[in-house]
Amino acid sequence: MLRIGMLTSGGDCQALNAAMRGVVKGITNNIQEVEIYGFSEGYKGLIYENYRMLTSGDFSGILTRGGTILGTSRQPFKLMKILDENGLNKVEAMKATYSKLNLDCLVILGGNGTHKTANLLKDEGLNIVTLPKTIDNDIWGTDMTFGFQSAVDIATNAIDCIHTTAASHGRVFIVEVMGHKVGWLTLHAGIAGGADIILIPEIPYDIDRIIEAIEKRKKAGKGFTILAVAEGAISKENSQLSKKELKEKLKNSPYPSVSYEIAAQIQKKTGQEIRITVPGHMQRGGSPCPYDRVLSTRLGTAAAQLILDKDFGNMVSIVNGDISKVPLDQVAGKLKMVIPESSIIKVAKLGGTSFGD
Ligand code: F6P
Repeated sequence: MLRIGMLTSGGDCQALNAAMRGVVKGITNNIQEVEIYGFSEGYKGLIYENYRMLTSGDFSGILTRGGTILGTSRQPFKLMKILDENGLNKVEAMKATYSKLNLDCLVILGGNGTHKTANLLKDEGLNIVTLPKTIDNDIWGTDMTFGFQSAVDIATNAIDCIHTTAASHGRVFIVEVMGHKVGWLTLHAGIAGGADIILIPEIPYDIDRIIEAIEKRKKAGKGFTILAVAEGAISKENSQLSKKELKEKLKNSPYPSVSYEIAAQIQKKTGQEIRITVPGHMQRGGSPCPYDRVLSTRLGTAAAQLILDKDFGNMVSIVNGDISKVPLDQVAGKLKMVIPESSIIKVAKLGGTSFGD
């Protein structure tokens, strides 16, 4: 008998269900006696013994369904804060649930925060296999996370829609794209949607360079400009501040996000009419695109193979088009950022895109 626990943690994204389906198909097609325990709402389910037994039927028909059939939650604790409000040691509680159910392995689908906890549980002696999920594509050790391409499709579609209205009115438009502290989503959607200016956290911007780019387009007879702005974009000035100083400055900012600050500065300096669109959580919603369905199925069955081989303590990944694996301690605590000198940025710059630097 093989007993597997499974949970999805952190912000949801497209193809979580498809990935779990891949894991379960890969196991149940190769082993007769399997018990699958699905924990509700991420690590919370493991801490508070909130789970249900699942059969292969639960994973049928979910390839195309967005969200997660298990539910998810943000990580319930910072690693430093191990006790919950009632004094329960959450790490010990997770270990106890794992032992009580006599699990052979825990499959964890999540992003960066999730991987820190997964690595901690591995260090505590649990058999762990993880899968890289996030629309941000910021997980170390994999070229691609599932969810990313689906979000690129949605953000690109938003830019496409804005294009026609921006052109009709001759306006400057900002489309604010998710991505947390990295610019992958904005970079790809910005290039795919033909944004004129792309602002990402990895390349701090100078407002005067942005205005120059807008003026240059005006002079060339192009009355509208589209900016794809990452939610984590940062000005050159702010990038010089310490973490603490920046936190304080943003706390006191009158703007709800960086896009509003940039818009106010452009309006003040150029008098141009400017509008902001924030697609927000739409970028994480809906059905996974075909690329993500394929990727998550490949990663899911690869995770199943690791379990069958008893090869624990790894995240499945994709590197140069091939399925691979990375030890969890190499993944935890690292962020995969866009490299400003990379060829994708060079190509975009060569094609006339401004990065505001
Ligand atoms: O990590 C995925 C993500 O969608 C980020 O792009 C975004 O910054 C964050 O989650 C939003 O988190 P929440 O769903 O908690 O608002």
